[in-house]
Amino acid sequence: MPQVPVVRTVKALRARVGAWQAGGEHVALVPTMGALHAGHIALVKAGQRRAQHVVVSIFVNPTQFAPTEDLSSYPRTFAADRAKLADAGADLIFAPTVPEMYPDGFATTVSLAGPAAAGLEDAFRPTHFPGVATVVCKLFTQCRPDIALFGEKDYQQLQVVKHLARDLDLDIKVIGVPTVREPDGLAMSSRNRFLSAAEREKSLVLYQQMQAAASAIRAGHEPEAALDAARSAIIAAGFALDYLALRDAATLARINGAALLAGQPLRLLVAAKIGATRLIDNIAV
Ligand code: PAF
Repeated sequence: MPQVPVVRTVKALRARVGAWQAGGEHVALVPTMGALHAGHIALVKAGQRRAQHVVVSIFVNPTQFAPTEDLSSYPRTFAADRAKLADAGADLIFAPTVPEMYPDGFATTVSLAGPAAAGLEDAFRPTHFPGVATVVCKLFTQCRPDIALFGEKDYQQLQVVKHLARDLDLDIKVIGVPTVREPDGLAMSSRNRFLSAAEREKSLVLYQQMQAAASAIRAGHEPEAALDAARSAIIAAGFALDYLALRDAATLARINGAALLAGQPLRLLVAAKIGATRLIDNIAV
C-alpha cells in the first residue's frame, strides 16, 4: 500500500492544499496529536464524505499540557499512525516540528470565554483551552481547509473550536463527529492504553452511569438526584471524580428547570481519574 506523503513545513503544506483548491477541490483537515485509533479514523472517513482531500495533522502540542501533565509520556506512534492513515486513504500528513509551530519569540495566545469558561475542563486544566485554541487557530490558518473535523469525545473542545472559527471569521466549517466506543462502551482515547486490566474493567462505570443518569432525567427524575447517584457509583468504583455535569448542549451553560421543561438539547459530561489516567466522556440527554 502506498505511504501517505508527509510535509513538515507550513510552506509545503500550503503548496499541496493550494494546488488542490486551485483545481476547485475541497480540503478537510483532521487535527490530531497522533496515537491514532478508530475514533480518529472515523474523522478521516467523515472528511472523505465531504471533501475530495483529507489532510491529517499530527502534532503533540506542548502548549495545551500543564507542567504537571503527561506531555513527555503522551504516546508517540508516528509509523503506526502513518500506516493507519494509508489504510484509511488519507491524502496528506502535516507533522510539523515544535520550532515550526512555535518559533523563537512566539508570543501570541488566543484568549477565550464562552464555552471555554464553562467550569468543566477549564476548571481543572486552566491552561488547556488557550493552548488548544492557539494551535487550532494556527493549523486552520496554515492549512486553510474548507472544513475541519473534531470528535465529540472532547465535547467542550468541539464547542470552543466552533466558537473560535465563528468569532475569528476563519471561514472554515467545523464538524463534530460522534464518539467511537469500544464494544463494551468505553470511549476510544489515546490514553486508554495506560489503563491496567483492572482499571480498564472499572472504566466502564463512566459510560454506564452517564446512561443511567440520562435515562432517569429523561424519565422526569430530579436531575441533581440522578447525577448524585451516578457520582456515588463512579467514586465507589475507585475514580477520583472531577465533575459529572448536565449542561446546555451548545453553550455548556448550567441549566435550570425552565431549560429542562423546554426540552432543549442537553449534554452530560464527565471527567474522572483512575490510577494515573484521567478519562473524559459525554453523551446527549
Ligand atoms: O483533540 C486533540 O487531539 C487536540 O486537542 C488537537 C485538537 C489536535 C489540538 O492539539
